[in-house]
Amino acid sequence: MLDRGGFGRDGAAMIPVADPPERIRLADAQDLLAGFKARFQLPAGVIYLDGNSLGALPKATPERLRRTLEEEWGGDLIASWNKHDWIGAPARVGAKIARLIGAKPSEVVVADSTSVNLFKLLVAAMGVQGGRRVILTEPDNFPTDGYIAEGVAGLLNGCALRTAPAAELEAAIDDDTAVVLLTQVHYKTGRRWDMERVNDVARRRGALVIWDLSHSTGAIPVDLGGSGAELAVGCGYKYLNGGPGAPSYLYVAERLQSRLASPLSGWMGHAAPFAFAPNYQPAPGVARFQCGTPPILSLLALEAAVDLMLEADMAAVAAKAEALSDLLIAEMASACAAHGFALITPRRFADRGAHVAFAHPHAYEICQALIAEGVVGDFRAPDALRLGPAPLYTSFCDVWRAVQTLEAVMQRRLWDRPDYRTRARVT
Ligand SMILES: Cc1ncc(COP(=O)(O)O)c(C=O)c1O
Repeated sequence: MLDRGGFGRDGAAMIPVADPPERIRLADAQDLLAGFKARFQLPAGVIYLDGNSLGALPKATPERLRRTLEEEWGGDLIASWNKHDWIGAPARVGAKIARLIGAKPSEVVVADSTSVNLFKLLVAAMGVQGGRRVILTEPDNFPTDGYIAEGVAGLLNGCALRTAPAAELEAAIDDDTAVVLLTQVHYKTGRRWDMERVNDVARRRGALVIWDLSHSTGAIPVDLGGSGAELAVGCGYKYLNGGPGAPSYLYVAERLQSRLASPLSGWMGHAAPFAFAPNYQPAPGVARFQCGTPPILSLLALEAAVDLMLEADMAAVAAKAEALSDLLIAEMASACAAHGFALITPRRFADRGAHVAFAHPHAYEICQALIAEGVVGDFRAPDALRLGPAPLYTSFCDVWRAVQTLEAVMQRRLWDRPDYRTRARVT
């Protein structure tokens, strides 16, 4: 029997799905990025549409980690900080990520988690906004963004958190607004903000904007410099494929760097950590936003994955993200009509990211049934089935087969099982 990793329905055979039609096979044959799929370790027979949540494992990563563990840590021990430039990894990997997001190498550093980076940038940004005391965000931003903003508002005297729905957000930026905090591509619906436009409105009204790029980088064109962005953070484990809990990156535009102070003034953000000076002196530049000792194993796993992505032309990556998600939306049209799915993602790629979400009252159970059939997406409460093709390793045939499988799951009511109604801790 086919080894499909941890997937499958109690050892039962998968639903048979017909071969994709010529037009779909042709799309794969003409795909400039098709060769990247073989550079990832993917379980046979599984169609992985959850790279927007946890990216797949690049085949280069285990060897990179083996070297780091056995030769560097095991062989050179503490000398590795200098000999293998572990100490330079946060800046080095940051400079590589900068190339993916339209930033200068000196504007990005890898550190901590996205949540912690949000905290650091929010507090730092509030610190330079004088009498302005409002953090403005969307009511349904990704939870950690809202929670961190809530925490910062509670911590800083007189600071308040306000929310405005997307349609009213621009108008809500006023003289009290210190910082606007937005996720460029919405984690659930995939709706995309026009970064340049929001930056422009905010700048004219005196507010700073912090962008969360977690669902953008590696999926859509991001041009922080060109769009006038000043501050950003993002996940390393989604489209960047850095691995579970991979460190995050943060961006501070050069012109702001010397003005901003990190509230987590750890020694790795010090100008001279090994001077062991009694008082904190921030490092020049974005390095001041490092805090403690970097997690070298996960940082170097992230580097291996970023190196792989840098081999791809980012314009081709974005074009394929568009084509794959367009195909997904088009192929789902009949399932939407026949089985009660509602597309909650904007249709135009300019208005969305690479993942596509459909509302359905039984989305959780359907997601479990799909996973059992080897099609991996995820569920986001209360009712969204999220499917995220990843340009580097999802093929057009994958998308087509995923929709065929979904149709079969619906026709055979495979989702209607009591065990699929019990929610796991991670959905
Ligand atoms: C928009 C967004 N921000 C942040 C995070 C996660 O942050 P952290 O890595 O700190 O858990 C996610 C995770 O899915 C996310 O979707």
